[in-house]
Amino acid sequence: MEITPFSEQEIRQLRAETKGTAGRIHFNNAGASLPPDVVVETIIEYLQEEAIYGGYETECKYKESLENTYDQIARLINADRDEVAITENASIAWGLAFNGITFKKGDVIITSEFEYVTNLLGLLNAQKTHGIEIKVIANDEHGNFSLSALEEAITLQTKLIAVTHIPSSGGGLIPIVEIGKIARKHPVLYLVDACQSIGQVPIDVKGIDCDMLSVNGRKFLRAPRGTGFLYVRKEVQDQLKVLFMDGFTAKLISRDTYKIRSDGRRFELYEKNRALSLGLGKAIEYALHIGVDRIWKRVQELAGLMRGQLEGIDRITVHDMGDQKCGIVTFSVNGIDSPSVKSKLAAKQINVSVGVASSTMIYMNKNHLTSVVRASIHYYNTEEEIKALCEALVSILK
Ligand SMILES: Cc1ncc(COP(=O)(O)O)c(C=O)c1O
Repeated sequence: MEITPFSEQEIRQLRAETKGTAGRIHFNNAGASLPPDVVVETIIEYLQEEAIYGGYETECKYKESLENTYDQIARLINADRDEVAITENASIAWGLAFNGITFKKGDVIITSEFEYVTNLLGLLNAQKTHGIEIKVIANDEHGNFSLSALEEAITLQTKLIAVTHIPSSGGGLIPIVEIGKIARKHPVLYLVDACQSIGQVPIDVKGIDCDMLSVNGRKFLRAPRGTGFLYVRKEVQDQLKVLFMDGFTAKLISRDTYKIRSDGRRFELYEKNRALSLGLGKAIEYALHIGVDRIWKRVQELAGLMRGQLEGIDRITVHDMGDQKCGIVTFSVNGIDSPSVKSKLAAKQINVSVGVASSTMIYMNKNHLTSVVRASIHYYNTEEEIKALCEALVSILK
């Protein structure tokens, strides 16, 4: 299907709808994107109503809009609304899914070099507490995930394939759809961390064929901090233990018996930040209105442009590997450490971040990287901003 490019007028309009774009150049979208004004206004309005009318009374008034957030999530990832639980971040979402699995000694979990620190800690904890074994599929020399190595690694002991779609400190992607096709041929569970891809790359849980998917809202979705969600395929929900319960998650039938909810909200608790949930729904609506396929195309184009320009600067090395790359551009500057590059750019009103080895340790160690500068691009960034970043780097290097 033909993807309609963004016009200059549209970009101007989208930037006008995002206060933060006025005073700074924001290339820290992999940390947290700038939210659209409408998302911030939605949250503030809700909080003000809570203060005036009462929390429960405001919830009652906004019941439909709060429910709408589940519908928006379902639309975004092509799931059913009863396969979704809203969480306060991605680590909780991932932990609820992972720790819900019943592991036994000798079970094997397969992962990739890109696995995020939270998830690696979870795997190591399961190794310690349940005696599971961790197998890491090494990327090939070009930085691509090896599907053939995955096929070879799966045995009858394999319980779970757990992968991170886009690493926090590298511009590559792993082929989650192809991994899903392989996973389906075996009786294994498949868990995807889509934190850095949601809002940047179209995500379709049916196409990926994953059992569980964890994300947060603050990155490329442009939702507020403190938001996230977990998808659990309907058929898998009963296989997972529910780790925390309250009267919303489960119903007390008698003093001695209870029944767990029949939908994905069994992984939530009753009390949550409703203003932020509403903001999450609004941010997803905003992204869907623009079109995530369009966003993905523009992000790749801008990131390609940035990589090309950075590569043209003496003393700068771009580190992103793999055949397909995303909006996260990582590089280092010979002679200046990454934290100093970040603070020198901040002084010029340019936000970037530093990717440290501990966030994506297997990948970073293998490639001898202790830290990288991470400039992450969203669709509201412009070619002029990329040029300004490169000019700022050249002047820092003088
Ligand atoms: C790939 C990846 N997974 C998981 C997380 C954890 O997300 P959260 O901080 O919302 O728990 C991050 C955060 O940077 C991430 O980059």
